[in-house]
Amino acid sequence: MAKKVKVGIVGLGRLGRQHAENLASRVPNCELSAICSVVEDEISAFKEKWDVPFSYTNYDEMLRNKDLDAIFIASPSGFHCDQIIKALDAGFHVFSEKPLGLYLEEAEQVMAAVESHPDQVFMLGFMRRYDRSYADAKRKIVNGDIGEPILIRCYGLDPASQMDNFLAFAKANYSGGLFLDMSIHDLDLARWYMGSEAQEVWAIGGGYARQEFDEIKDAETGAAMVRFENNTMGIFVAGRNSAHGYHIETEIIGTKGSIRIGTVPERNQIVLFNENGAVKKCYDGFLERFEQAYLSETEEFIHCIMEGRQPEVTVRDGVESTRLGYACKQSFETRQLVKVRE
Ligand code: NAI
Repeated sequence: MAKKVKVGIVGLGRLGRQHAENLASRVPNCELSAICSVVEDEISAFKEKWDVPFSYTNYDEMLRNKDLDAIFIASPSGFHCDQIIKALDAGFHVFSEKPLGLYLEEAEQVMAAVESHPDQVFMLGFMRRYDRSYADAKRKIVNGDIGEPILIRCYGLDPASQMDNFLAFAKANYSGGLFLDMSIHDLDLARWYMGSEAQEVWAIGGGYARQEFDEIKDAETGAAMVRFENNTMGIFVAGRNSAHGYHIETEIIGTKGSIRIGTVPERNQIVLFNENGAVKKCYDGFLERFEQAYLSETEEFIHCIMEGRQPEVTVRDGVESTRLGYACKQSFETRQLVKVRE
């Protein structure tokens, strides 16, 4: 394909706007041709800054634009399954933000749709695989630098400053709960690094800082312990009350060494010395921490279309991570050990 890949994006919210700006200005061989949002103000604000030929408030109308090659989905999670299937059926290459759907059944429907359109590129937004540090860790594991990996420990903590926003959202919408909403990237990384699927899980947690979490049957902080089929272990801590900021940390312990990523989630090289001591600011959110990864995954999507190949991250990765996320949720809710597979 010699011409530029023409992309239409749906969703111009917190993450969609970042993706749209990448598509409009930072990815070679790509043209952002269409934007779609139900909020007209978001469309006009974007058009003030970027020259985009087509704009829509209706997704189905955007799909009728046969000038487009690909659809980029950054709408709320409840729309993903339907929007992915419609875009594939209309003949487009598709990138979708995680998750594939809110329910495991939806994720499985998406997998069937992707598999019935093998000539169209499908990519899921598991962007951590494209983060330089996480990608380097994978290379080191494959290279045998830590021997055989035996345990992965993951922290996924959202800033306490976002807790009110989250509670307001979760009281009005089904979020999937702590493990599906927050740990899904960690669950995918664990499968990727350990090279195995989960066998059983035990998850616990509670409302701790805010009892409202108990009222909506969710957890403010939770922990899950997973045994994988190859007898390796995973420990996943997720939370919504991190005082110091957005904290994504991973450790992989092997038979000959270990790797840690993001142990101190420092925002940059600055150390401020003052009456509080030596102060390092931490990341305040996903946009800042994973800026490079969001750009790199988008570049990979466009490369895949131009080169007629599929990305390494597959729809099955989305389904299996969702399956494990649901098992964590079930274990947390029932207080039982849950078998993910026999
Ligand atoms: P948001 O609520 O900030 O934005 C949603 C956007 O979709 C808005 O522009 C809204 O107007 C638009 N929209 C809503 N319904 C629509 C419809 N029926 N048709 C067309 N447009 C519609 O959401 P946010 O936080 O940007 O999240 C979007 C997705 O990205 C979610 O599925 C979320 O799970 C995922 N996400 C992924 C992250 C990652 O690290 N990979 C981080 C944050 C979010």
